[in-house]
Amino acid sequence: MKFLIILALMFATILGDSTIDITYANVPLLDGRIVGGSPVTIEDCPYQVSVQLLGSHRCGGAIISDRYVITAAHCFTIWPASWHTIRAGSSFHNSGGQVVGVNAIYNHPNFNRANLDFDISILHLSSPLSFGPAAAPIPLPTQNQYYSDDTPAVVSGWGALIENGTAPLQLQAVWVPIVNNVRCGALYEVEEYDVTDSMLCAGYMSGGRDACQGDSGGPLVINGQLIGIVSWGEGCARANFPGVYASVSYSRSFITDITGI
Ligand SMILES: *[C@@H]1O[C@H](CO)[C@@H](O)[C@H](O)[C@H]1NC(C)=O
Repeated sequence: MKFLIILALMFATILGDSTIDITYANVPLLDGRIVGGSPVTIEDCPYQVSVQLLGSHRCGGAIISDRYVITAAHCFTIWPASWHTIRAGSSFHNSGGQVVGVNAIYNHPNFNRANLDFDISILHLSSPLSFGPAAAPIPLPTQNQYYSDDTPAVVSGWGALIENGTAPLQLQAVWVPIVNNVRCGALYEVEEYDVTDSMLCAGYMSGGRDACQGDSGGPLVINGQLIGIVSWGEGCARANFPGVYASVSYSRSFITDITGI
């Protein structure tokens, strides 16, 4: 069995552009990535937030109420909730909008850091968000809601524009079609990665358009509902490797248990 352990510890100054990151997983993480998309404004995706550690963009997230944000569980390691903030209501991850503290981080109890099963987390905010054209909650799907192949979905984030590339300051978004789990699992079997029931896939077999490093935790949306959370993938936008997302529908009861929504 192929087993990759990535252990990265980067410690920069607490001031300015600090990044602190520990990763331990045997699947490739998508900690930031929109490839082949276009710049958008926050009014196009008012549910999008930047989840930040010590004031630096770390992951995407989605507003589900004035006090709760959904993101990816792999975005959190040993750093306390109080070191995190979210920026809502801005097209730029480093300026504008509203910055709100995080009171508590609730990772899914079945989250598995090795294969990213149940890669979903809920943040409880320390003060309520103000809603308007640039910041608004996104409705959730019901339990057991599935989408047929090729259903168009939109993913957004401040992740890298190309694999291993630099990340933009302005929010990007791209359309990607749903790929069913059986087909997606068969594609990833080559790499010995599992596509589990808690995951869903979206992307083009030809590649070219995808989420990428820095988009993790961000929203995948169909018909105005939050369907998926950016989780992992083999590289970014590579042919025959669709992006893999945590399924919101599959973890729907967890969201209700934590938030009452
Ligand atoms: C990106 O970086 C990884 C790790 O260094 C490498 O394996 C991969 O080939 C790189 N991708 C591209 C497109 O350069």
